[in-house]
Amino acid sequence: MTDPIALVPLPHSVIWSQGTWETTDPWAGLSVGLSEDLPRTAYSLSIHPGGAHLTAGSEAALADGRNTFAQIVSDADGSIPCVTIEDEPAHAWRGMHLDVARHFRTVEEIEAMIDAMALHRLNVLHLHLTDDQGWRVEIKGYPRLTEIGAWRAQTLVGHHSPDADESTWTFDGIRHGGFYSQDELRGLVEYASRRGVMIVPEVDLPGHMQAAVAAYPNLGNVPGREIGVREVWGISDHVLGVSDEVFDFLRDVLTQVAGIFPGPFVHIGGDECPTTEWEQSTAARARLNEWGLTRISEIQGRFTQYAVEVLAESGKRAIGWDEVLQTHLPDGMVIMNWRKQGGVAEATGRGFQTVVATAEHTYFDHYQATPDQEPLAIGGLTTVKDVYTAPLIPSGLSDQERSQILGIQGQLWSEYLPTAAHMQYMAFPRMCALAERAWGSPEQTWEQFEERLRAHLPRLDAFGIRYRPLD
Ligand code: ACM
Repeated sequence: MTDPIALVPLPHSVIWSQGTWETTDPWAGLSVGLSEDLPRTAYSLSIHPGGAHLTAGSEAALADGRNTFAQIVSDADGSIPCVTIEDEPAHAWRGMHLDVARHFRTVEEIEAMIDAMALHRLNVLHLHLTDDQGWRVEIKGYPRLTEIGAWRAQTLVGHHSPDADESTWTFDGIRHGGFYSQDELRGLVEYASRRGVMIVPEVDLPGHMQAAVAAYPNLGNVPGREIGVREVWGISDHVLGVSDEVFDFLRDVLTQVAGIFPGPFVHIGGDECPTTEWEQSTAARARLNEWGLTRISEIQGRFTQYAVEVLAESGKRAIGWDEVLQTHLPDGMVIMNWRKQGGVAEATGRGFQTVVATAEHTYFDHYQATPDQEPLAIGGLTTVKDVYTAPLIPSGLSDQERSQILGIQGQLWSEYLPTAAHMQYMAFPRMCALAERAWGSPEQTWEQFEERLRAHLPRLDAFGIRYRPLD
């Protein structure tokens, strides 16, 4: 099988100093080389009085070894310890997801997250770039996506409850938004690549598209109807329509996004797509007949199929949230499992590669202690101990099925994470526990991990990360 994570080459060695990762070209004391004798994800680092040498099985593994070296140098107090480290991660995909659609994060704030990921040898940043509440990526030929779709007039205050009486909702009255130019995203790709992090962009379709429909009403199911960018959370009924114009739009968007991000994957969402508007649409029914389908819900499968084909023309593999399993799926897709652990078994059993991103244990927008002690969060309760100890990979998988699990990923949905500081508070230290599991250190108890975590916190301090205190 081909390497599931082929990173673009890293041109420089990386060294961490004063809380940021800086590139030096090359760092004088470290010689590096690739070795065909090592597995692709493995590296070997030896530091001895005569110098330091790093060999690795791939460019991606070199990045991990460089990051380890940078950490050792940065931890050192005057002199660097002589060590030999031979290491290899349990999972090729060690991911963090970041929702920049519900609350926009600046390029600098994302760079700080990439630095923190490199510190933890996390190597995939999944950027959730589009949603009902904001469209964040410049697409040439569609200026209204960023003129209109990137901005919402105001945001709901407090919890969103779908059953609440709308007349009781209050709003902050503050215009909110932002977007990234294609050049800014290319810069971010380069920044991440130098630190051993691959960016996987997500364009969530065919649901979670209200911002795009607000920008171009003809993309919706009632052509010409004006709707705004969504100002509350929850699931919007305003999904994509089924006209040729919509499919042409998706081709343009996916092709341009594929051109910005050089990695092998593009995420096409697929979660939480209500069929309400399709059921009420004569155009959607006519399409269903034309396609020889019977159930309205099968329309989503058509979108998935189309997106997979368009991305394949750009040499990309599509990833989808696990709802995409509900309709016929093209081979070769990657399933990102969020709803229940059993979905991992279903996806691998059907032959798909999978990333484990289950809400119960990897959604870092959940409370990390009882709500009365914490800032407002979406719900749930996932402590750092849960992240370290909870079962993530279901038992009972065959060796073949286990081998189809690419890795694990933490999620930072941002409805209730309005600032970068708040995002860091929710991410850390849970992200540290996730990273430990993703790398797969030898069996350790929670108590052992907790002790090492306490010793690790000064590194977070050095990076200026505003983590949640352990006590
Ligand atoms: C999701 O949480 N809607 C993937």
